[in-house]
Amino acid sequence: LFKEFIYLNEVDSTNAYVKQNQQYLPNATVVYAERQTQGRGRFSRRWVDLDKGIKMSILLKLLLLDLEKIVPFTLFTGLVINRVLRKHGVESFIKWSNDIYLNGKKVCGILSELSGEVEGFGSIIIGIGINVNAKSVPEEIKDIATTLKAETLHDFDRTRLIIDILKEFERELSNFEKYGFSYFRDEYKSFCINLGKEILVNGERMLCKDIGKNGELVCEKDGKIVEISSGEVTIRF
Ligand code: BTN
Repeated sequence: LFKEFIYLNEVDSTNAYVKQNQQYLPNATVVYAERQTQGRGRFSRRWVDLDKGIKMSILLKLLLLDLEKIVPFTLFTGLVINRVLRKHGVESFIKWSNDIYLNGKKVCGILSELSGEVEGFGSIIIGIGINVNAKSVPEEIKDIATTLKAETLHDFDRTRLIIDILKEFERELSNFEKYGFSYFRDEYKSFCINLGKEILVNGERMLCKDIGKNGELVCEKDGKIVEISSGEVTIRF
């Protein structure tokens, strides 16, 4: 699946790079950057650039019809990364929708963006940021974020991690396309740290009861069930 790998020393953002150049890039191109000067996070935040991390974007060209899969697609990507990290001995967990946590702090974020339409085709750009071999994170994010190295006290082979992530993504893609998110739901639930917790969804307090068939967050609020398919979620530990 992944035949085109573009390595950049420095770029503003790998997601932005893919967006700008997508008409020249084949399906399943991966763009990797050693350094991002304007890394983007979800909710218009910035993604702090750490040394010796993984910052890459995957371009998937899809039929417009399939673009509604963007939410399950990002959940799927998070699950794949969690699985690979665990294979590498990391006891990671998933925070809905697709943050990867280790020891209560974030080590990986995913930003998926939809883009442009050309003759019935559109694309999903899946941006993946993993804090890998930096010794620590800057003061301003040290309460919420960490790196694989800071938690495990050893270095990781980033090339190996990238290859394993792309391979696992490719290996499971057909199951995802055939059965959708529900094929992965049990595994997702077993690593999801929101379940059973009181959480804040866009500032509203709720109890997280379940993960639905399409990956939505099923919560209880004032005795009623509410399904959340996007938004910012904070866990109250
Ligand atoms: C988040 O948790 O807010 C998502 C962070 C996504 C960061 C990655 S790093 C590679 C790609 N390029 C970007 O500008 N952002 C994503």
